[in-house]
Amino acid sequence: MAGIRFQSIRKVFGKTVAADSVSLEIRDGEFMVLLGPSGCGKTTLLRCLAGLEHVDGGRVFIGDRDVTDRAPRDRRIAMVFQSYAVFPHLTVFDNIAFGLKMQGRPRDEIKRRVEESARLLELTDFLKRYPAQLSGGQRQRVAVARAIVMQAAVLLMDEPLSNLDALLRLQMRAELKRLHQEIKATTIYVTHDQVEALSLGDRIAVMQSGRIVQCDVPMNIYDYPANKFVGGFIGTPPMNFLPGVVHANGDGPTVVVGESHLAPAPAFAHALSAKNGEPILLGIRPENLTLAPNQQANTIRARVRVVEPLGSHKLLTMQVGTEISKVSVAPDQRVAPNEDVWLHFDPEKIRWMDAATGEAISATVE
Ligand SMILES: Nc1ncnc2c1ncn2[C@@H]1O[C@H](COP(=O)(O)OP(=O)(O)OP(=O)(O)O)[C@@H](O)[C@H]1O
Ligand SMILES: [Mg+2]
Repeated sequence: MAGIRFQSIRKVFGKTVAADSVSLEIRDGEFMVLLGPSGCGKTTLLRCLAGLEHVDGGRVFIGDRDVTDRAPRDRRIAMVFQSYAVFPHLTVFDNIAFGLKMQGRPRDEIKRRVEESARLLELTDFLKRYPAQLSGGQRQRVAVARAIVMQAAVLLMDEPLSNLDALLRLQMRAELKRLHQEIKATTIYVTHDQVEALSLGDRIAVMQSGRIVQCDVPMNIYDYPANKFVGGFIGTPPMNFLPGVVHANGDGPTVVVGESHLAPAPAFAHALSAKNGEPILLGIRPENLTLAPNQQANTIRARVRVVEPLGSHKLLTMQVGTEISKVSVAPDQRVAPNEDVWLHFDPEKIRWMDAATGEAISATVE
């Protein structure tokens, strides 16, 4: 077992900066999720760690070993690739056994370890089959079994569930979580599925254009996004954003959004007062907006455009001034399209962001 440390990693392909000064520490046994849109550099970072790419700058450590100049085979890493491939001409047993055979392990050790990995991934009944005789999910489990059988210090998984349908994905997600609880290998798991990231990660590192923009435990990423990009990437539907202008006077600041004055939570009073007269961005999640029966403090007039009953809740698409916001309400909330309503903004749930940079404004901790 071993922790991992990326220290100012830089990787350039022609004019593309795929990793731009990435520093990240992953603790021994931790499950770290790399999350970000297509092309942001997730696979590149894994390949730099595995030794499949040469870094253009920075150092990579596994445990206390600097492995930056080591060959892939010296790094004790097992990887499940994004385009997971199993050997079609080998049985499930021989697919899982492949790496151990390459290492020249004794036959009885191979048998024992393959059977153990197969048990962990519930493949015991399929060991004699060929990949063509398996479902997509079973084949993907073979790819994972083939990696974990190596008992590497570090397990890298690059979108291992990407080829599965929604239901299988859900099943495999829970299975991977159980698997990690059992084998406790230091794991980096790449996905662009934010639900998967929230579900699996001990921590999530959110990437954008070759950089890590935020790294924290899932609920902090969700509740306290570091900027507009993170808030807008995580959550289904994602965070709503509305433009406003700060008005500060002797009673403390308010933020004018459309025709309403919203009173920010006390922790933001100081930071917002300093922005008197400046534009600002209000961020709030759909479940933190409620319908109020009439005009009250911290309400804004809005018109219901679309009502979608989704079983566990109703999703409303609202016109708020010139902006569209999504609101999640209880399934029995009575509301109809084209109705004008008052939307209540819970001040404690509002995240204020700099209008120009999109960076979150920090609360003052008393
Ligand atoms: N071998 C390469 N040659 C040139 N450019 C590359 C190479 N590999 C990656 N890139 C570029 O580097 C950037 C990061 O690519 P990377 O594969 O790491 O993204 P990713 O986050 O894994 O995306 P996805 O979610 O689509 O798999 C992209 O702009 C990509 O086009
Ligand atoms: Mg990738």
